[in-house]
Amino acid sequence: MRIAVLTGAGISAESGVPTFRDADGLWEGHRVEDVATPEAYATQPDVVHRFYDERRAALVNVEPNPAHVALARLEDAIGEDLTIVTQNIDDLHERAGSTRVLHMHGELNSALCRFCEARVRWTGPLADLPPCPNCGVPELRPDVVWFGEVPYHLPEIEVVLAKADLFVSVGTSGAVYPAAGFVQVARMYGARTLELNLLTSDVSDLFLESRLGRAGELVPAWVDEVLG
Ligand code: APR
Repeated sequence: MRIAVLTGAGISAESGVPTFRDADGLWEGHRVEDVATPEAYATQPDVVHRFYDERRAALVNVEPNPAHVALARLEDAIGEDLTIVTQNIDDLHERAGSTRVLHMHGELNSALCRFCEARVRWTGPLADLPPCPNCGVPELRPDVVWFGEVPYHLPEIEVVLAKADLFVSVGTSGAVYPAAGFVQVARMYGARTLELNLLTSDVSDLFLESRLGRAGELVPAWVDEVLG
């Protein structure tokens, strides 16, 4: 059985990574949508750099939780039959041991040079405008997909969805497209669909089955079911 798992901020919530739309969802009084745009970067690059620099620095203080670990255990068991498509820019899937992860919204630990377009692994701050290791020009931006930009890996994701027998969504509010539409794409190609989320999402009605609860409990229990 081929399985495609879509993850969102909710899978990392129990690790201590804040979600976008729960609670107040604000950062220093800014709506997240107001710092995660090309326009914000053009007008206030220092604010945008600080926002992502803080998040990148915070990564070292968080650990994968049982939901990430369970998905890594599933990959150990079924290998290439599992692909994770994540909207998250943290590295918790990889640190739990998953290797087949498509980061459709980019990664905190990566920087993108606006001059030479190189993508380089980056774990330090960007606010101090360091030179690009590839071309030397100080034009590095966070390698994340902002509102209005095209997500990464879309053709590959379409293939994963088309081949999936089961599509599972974990910890995402269904507020942001195209990820919110993946359930319909997977269904169109004939997959069964399952949602695991703390609360009812914007797209819960589109799933064959929807289970409510914490990812740290629901995901290990579901993986146990799959592995029988
Ligand atoms: N277990 C399971 N689900 C949880 C948990 C938990 N412990 N905690 C919160 N959730 C659920 C919430 O109920 C909510 O539906 O996770 C979802 C988080 O939703 P969002 O904060 O909107 O995050 P996400 O869906 O990943 O956002 C999509 O929006 O700003 C952009 O690029 C950003 O990738 C992000 C995208």
